[in-house]
Amino acid sequence: MSDLYCVFGNPIAHSKSPAIHAAFAAATGQDMHYEARLAAVDGFKPAISEFVAMGGKGANVTVPFKEEAFRLATRLSERASRAGAVNTLAFNGTEIFGDNTDGAGLVRDIVHNLGVSLAGKRILLLGAGGASRGVIAPLLAERPASLFIANRSAGKAEALAASFADMATVNAGNFAKTEDMIFDLVINATSASLSGDALPLPNGIFAEGCVAYDMMYGQSETPFLAQAREQGVVQRADGLGMLVEQAAEAFFVWRGVRPATRQVLADLRSKLGQ
Ligand code: ATR
Repeated sequence: MSDLYCVFGNPIAHSKSPAIHAAFAAATGQDMHYEARLAAVDGFKPAISEFVAMGGKGANVTVPFKEEAFRLATRLSERASRAGAVNTLAFNGTEIFGDNTDGAGLVRDIVHNLGVSLAGKRILLLGAGGASRGVIAPLLAERPASLFIANRSAGKAEALAASFADMATVNAGNFAKTEDMIFDLVINATSASLSGDALPLPNGIFAEGCVAYDMMYGQSETPFLAQAREQGVVQRADGLGMLVEQAAEAFFVWRGVRPATRQVLADLRSKLGQ
């Protein structure tokens, strides 16, 4: 019987993870089955128990369960501890290993797929929620010149920055505080585009040759990438590459094999009609 994996979320019906992992498994010759499983909002723990009892070997975890998965894990990777959230679980006997591959996925997409080195760059990270927290340590590990976290509520950004003070000096404030600052890479980790909102970004924050990266993706251009385009940013990317790369990293955690991602990403993009 094939080894069993899944992704838990709510909602989950439109998840692209089953197609991504099926493509990885086929390309690497791994005998595994990966499915989407809906867990009740208050039923994540029993859903995990049931899946483990079925012989499940590992799972991805998405909204709204990443923090609960973090608390459920009996052992955590360093990057999951830092993120305060888990998107990848591996089950081994009674052990529930929790990892977080989101930040690694983001960095790999930027460095490897977009060909943009982060070393020495001035980075602006927009948002101070879970999505933002998950990528900070992997970004700092690339040794940027600076990292500024901007958020609607400044206090949340300042608290988040302070929690990484042992790694590097991270500055923070509200969006207005970035006025007169300039950045080589601006990453949107807010959920503002879900409500169709544009962010109150001051003019002139994008350096010549700046990269704008939105961790969100969709069929049409996100409001943040539209803002960046209007400000003259040429290199703009949505989060589809991050989605595929975090999946590849999870696949590696489970199987010890790193799948190629280029074709899988290209196929997903053409399905999105982009
Ligand atoms: P996630 O896990 O996706 O990060 P979250 O923890 O709820 O979700 O965080 C959402 C982030 O998007 C926060 O930084 C939030 O800003 P606040 O902390 O000020 O709430 C940000 N956000 C959501 N909607 C926004 C909007 N319309 N404008 C600006 N920021 C927004």
